[in-house]
Amino acid sequence: MFLEIPKSIKLEHEELHEDLEEATMESGSVGDAAKAVQEVLQPHFLKEEKFALPPLGLLSQLSKDQISPEMNDVLEMTEKLKTELIQMIAEHREIVARLKILTEAAIKENKLDYVQFAEKLTLHAQTEEEVLYPAAILVGEYLKTKFMSKF
Ligand SMILES: [Fe+2]
Ligand SMILES: [Fe+2]
Repeated sequence: MFLEIPKSIKLEHEELHEDLEEATMESGSVGDAAKAVQEVLQPHFLKEEKFALPPLGLLSQLSKDQISPEMNDVLEMTEKLKTELIQMIAEHREIVARLKILTEAAIKENKLDYVQFAEKLTLHAQTEEEVLYPAAILVGEYLKTKFMSKF
């Protein structure tokens, strides 16, 4: 399938997911805070993997001017991302707020690995807002102009 999430991003998601899973197994306030993060992160990741990240799998081909009619299918995803963008960003705010609680708990319990994890996930959300979401939307917009002239 040509519409695949780039491997680097897929792996990053898997790693974040696994690290959080580990944090949820901690006892006390770290575990509780991690579970609160997971509650919002899980559905958020699912949405991203459904429509926000697969369009990025076309970037490499598009940069080489390799365009095919079936790429039209990606427009469904990029239009969905455009509609959901404000909600996705609101979810990031919620995730980051919950990560702050996790960070405080982790500092108190001297579990500094989780402080690092929280920083990593916060940065991930920022990269998505600054680079990945706009790039995915641009894939759709670019294809629309290309299809108008080509097919
Ligand atoms: Fe993500
Ligand atoms: Fe995200």
